Amino acid sequence: MSLLEAALRVRENAYVPYSQFKVGAAIRARSGAVYPGCNVENVAYPQGTCAEAGAIAAMIAGGDTEIVEVCVVADAPAPVPPCGGCRQKLREFAGPDAQITMATTDGQTLTMTMEQLLPGAFAPDHMSRA
Ligand code: THU
Repeated sequence: MSLLEAALRVRENAYVPYSQFKVGAAIRARSGAVYPGCNVENVAYPQGTCAEAGAIAAMIAGGDTEIVEVCVVADAPAPVPPCGGCRQKLREFAGPDAQITMATTDGQTLTMTMEQLLPGAFAPDHMSRA
């Protein structure tokens, strides 16, 4: 299954009673394993979690820590980029060259690197002397 197919499939399970905006994400880890995640909203709105956060949690639970590629898909007029918080969350496990593909359910795609999405990021190597 492609990363896009995995993201499309998990998107169907998104829990979005407040926004009705279903998002699916899938991560390919260095091991080759694919980890899907979807957004999970909450009546206390800030407690909701993004699809990317779900995929990251699945990856860590699965024993992987290195992101090679990510796909995020939503039903939107243009490919939906990860929110600012998710860019930082992804950067924890994705190097500057990791590929982030944003897609729409009608087939548009846009691929950028992690560095293009979050230039000059505060990254784990900045704390290497801590
Ligand atoms: N959302 C994601 O899951 N990922 C993104 O990259 C953008 C936004 C979710 C959060 C919320 O459940 C809904 O989309 C509307 O903001």
